[in-house]
Amino acid sequence: MAFGHRYTGLIERYRDRLPVHDDTRIISLGEGNTPLIRLNNIPRQLDHEVELYVKFEGLNPTGSFKDRGMTMAVTKALEEGSRAIICASTGNTSAAAAAYAARAGITAFVVIPDGKIAMGKLAQAMMHGSVVIQIEGNFDDGMRLVKQVAAEAPVTLVNSVNPYRLQGQKTAAFEIVEELGRAPDYHCLPVGNAGNITAHWIGYCELSAVSGDHVTEACTFCKGHCRFAGGGVAGQRPKMVGYQASGSAPFLRGAMVDQPDTVATAIRIGHPQSWDVAWKVQKESGGWFDECTDEEILVAQKLLAEQEGVFCEPASAASVAGALRDIRNGRIPEGSSVVCTLTGHGLKDPDTAIAQASRTPIKVAAEIGAVTRAILDNMD
Ligand code: F0G
Repeated sequence: MAFGHRYTGLIERYRDRLPVHDDTRIISLGEGNTPLIRLNNIPRQLDHEVELYVKFEGLNPTGSFKDRGMTMAVTKALEEGSRAIICASTGNTSAAAAAYAARAGITAFVVIPDGKIAMGKLAQAMMHGSVVIQIEGNFDDGMRLVKQVAAEAPVTLVNSVNPYRLQGQKTAAFEIVEELGRAPDYHCLPVGNAGNITAHWIGYCELSAVSGDHVTEACTFCKGHCRFAGGGVAGQRPKMVGYQASGSAPFLRGAMVDQPDTVATAIRIGHPQSWDVAWKVQKESGGWFDECTDEEILVAQKLLAEQEGVFCEPASAASVAGALRDIRNGRIPEGSSVVCTLTGHGLKDPDTAIAQASRTPIKVAAEIGAVTRAILDNMD
């Protein structure tokens, strides 16, 4: 990057491919431009040779991929004259909505399931000054309620049913293709509402298109906002693979799940909003859905933290848990390039992390003998 060039977020970066005007006031916190980290230590233990990357979306300003969508949703809400936004959330959307509303000087109302969101996410929503409404119900109940409110009150709904959200989120695919020089063979993501897997597919399709406006059947979801981008490798798109937590896996059950449950609270969703379109993504891309148990998710989270130095939240680790299983069983063939999206930062959910860490702190007296002993006892 040239001297004097300040990165000012993904809307400025991809202005020509996003539905903004020259005079649009852009609400940004410098989101996007997240690292694509090649894993070294974990692949070495696999019998299968693969090129395995993680796109660490936890390094966005509020610690999750939601910032990509929220910069677009809040920018457009403001442009359309809105003074308030609303969302239902398992935590990350509410954190992003709260932060971008603060930046824009408007009000955020966030509806969250009581007791089922990670502590860091609640702290964010509270600290950014949003109105936090805790319901005695789950995310799906919240979603139903905010849709009703937004239909009647002058508030803009910023869940991923807002088409601008997916427009922002598609830019993650642009960044990946720019860095690799091509699309990966497989792109693995955790799936809740299935907005993000859809957004990535829109991004890859736009890049791979030779001509035309709507470049994928799934793209009809953009409601006319997408623009032909080109610039990638014509026709080359990844297989999209979505992993769900076993207790919240409607795509695996083939039907909605009424009482979803999982340690990965971010994806504790039984009624995905992007149900139809996500099936199209799966079919168009030739990918698949699969599920991971809570145990597999936590093992993968710990593996990434201990062996690669990458701390993601439990939901994010579902992508790696699933990918490693599918690499081992050959469904993802040897020689493939694989990108797993790590959707949120591990600091979001300190309670789950502390509860499963391999080493607990060693308490000793504040004197050199005790500290030395603790060190010597724990030398590998
Ligand atoms: N990973 C994390 C960390 C999430 O927060 C979410 C969704 C997902 C994955 C799933 O993405 O819904 O696009 O399939 N979180 C939403 C929220 C529901 O309210 O923060 P999806």
